[in-house]
Amino acid sequence: MTIDTRVAAAAQLALDLDAPPVLPILSIAPEWKDQARLWGPALHPMCSYLASFPAALAHAFVGRYSRRGDVVLDPFSGRGTTVLQACAEGRIGVGNDLNPLAHLLTASKVEPATPAEAATRLAALRIGWAASSAEWLTLAAAVLADSGDAPTIPVPAARQGATTPTERVETVPPEVAVAFHPRTLAQLLYVRTALRRDDRVDRFLAAAITGILHGKSASYLSELMPNTFSMAPRYVRDFAARTAFASPDRDVFGGLEKKLARLHREALPRTPGIALLGDARDSAGRTRLALRERGLPERARLVVTSPPYLRVVKYGYYNWLRTWFLGEDARAIDAALDDAHHREPYLVFLREVLADLRTILADDAVVVLVIGDVETDRGRPLKGAVGLAERVWERAAEPEGYRLAGVALDDVAAGRKMTKLWGTEAGQATKTDRILVLGATEAGRRRALAGAGTPIDWDWPPKGLRSI
Ligand SMILES: C[S@@+](CC[C@H](N)C(=O)[O-])C[C@H]1O[C@@H](n2cnc3c(N)ncnc32)[C@H](O)[C@@H]1O
Repeated sequence: MTIDTRVAAAAQLALDLDAPPVLPILSIAPEWKDQARLWGPALHPMCSYLASFPAALAHAFVGRYSRRGDVVLDPFSGRGTTVLQACAEGRIGVGNDLNPLAHLLTASKVEPATPAEAATRLAALRIGWAASSAEWLTLAAAVLADSGDAPTIPVPAARQGATTPTERVETVPPEVAVAFHPRTLAQLLYVRTALRRDDRVDRFLAAAITGILHGKSASYLSELMPNTFSMAPRYVRDFAARTAFASPDRDVFGGLEKKLARLHREALPRTPGIALLGDARDSAGRTRLALRERGLPERARLVVTSPPYLRVVKYGYYNWLRTWFLGEDARAIDAALDDAHHREPYLVFLREVLADLRTILADDAVVVLVIGDVETDRGRPLKGAVGLAERVWERAAEPEGYRLAGVALDDVAAGRKMTKLWGTEAGQATKTDRILVLGATEAGRRRALAGAGTPIDWDWPPKGLRSI
């Protein structure tokens, strides 16, 4: 053996030793891929949210692995997809997330305002605006005149709750000021001091506004950026200066009214759910308490969740205009979330989450983990991302006593052999959703296996759910 072949053999051995385990495939047809883009309850598309999964995916598992009245959990609820779908199907959806934007969206979907409540509040906002618009317009004009790199004009801070001191002031970042027509900016400055996030109806209206804040059509309040995410603030400022960008005059109240009509175009979810704000590592205690306070069953029969991705999404940074509207600090959000881990700390993090979760699961609970995309960079997989689902099983779930039913693949993954990632797809980013299906105990594993073949009804709205 030459030195070269010995080095190659050692490298191969190291690779083999580090190879992820091969998991059994759970045969669940990815029918969610065949559904219309906006399949499901009308509240789902309230606001764009990066890395959310489709409502149809949640339905595929809620329909198979839970019954009416069961508790369905999502410790990383994002914009509330699992939780809303569960509530719409008569389950008790409980969502938790550490991101205040995610909490707002989840809460507004599982405890929504009725059409009458929303219309009444909107009317009150219009009256308030009519009475004070001159002041707000003057303030917005001053902000726009002052929008250099270091703004000085104080404006009232966004209101959070009943106890927020009303005298708190702040300045408007130049990238925010430049995004809006002067009247739109004036209306937003007024509305964000009026809406209380601890009030169910106000929260619903605030969430609806985050959904129309920016996008490339007449339904959005600013056309400066696409709807999916906020572009880098510096880029936005440069772009606006270079193109002499002037946002069209968009009426916040008119835009909100139309958005509310879209959200209310079908009946609201059948059962109310629960939205919690906090770390997934200790969400079980909060969940138990919230269920107990409402006299509801304290054990979950199903978890459908998608943990944060490896180093891909920054929820604060990519939502800075929405966080400004809500009075949240985008940097603080990113510092708190677990979206920036390398593989090893990520696995430790998930193990802690799964350990905590187990304490609140029914014996026959099924746990569905949608493990994020495998990204390739110029044909080379993102470090640590290949085989992540397998690693999560091996290093986070199995040591905590979960039982493995298998891994369900979507058709993208099934159609592309992993080896292809290295060759023919060089230069493209590759998406591969891997869905780990676990049992809390052997009873849960058996239920997961037995339910895999259950046919799913894809009619939406289901028969009998009338529009209002
Ligand atoms: C992939 S997203 C979930 C998207 C969700 N399935 C949906 O459809 O909208 C992951 C979520 O984990 C949240 N997150 C990150 N670190 C967290 C932590 N330590 N505790 C709770 N949530 C966290 C992020 O805010 C994000 O909403």
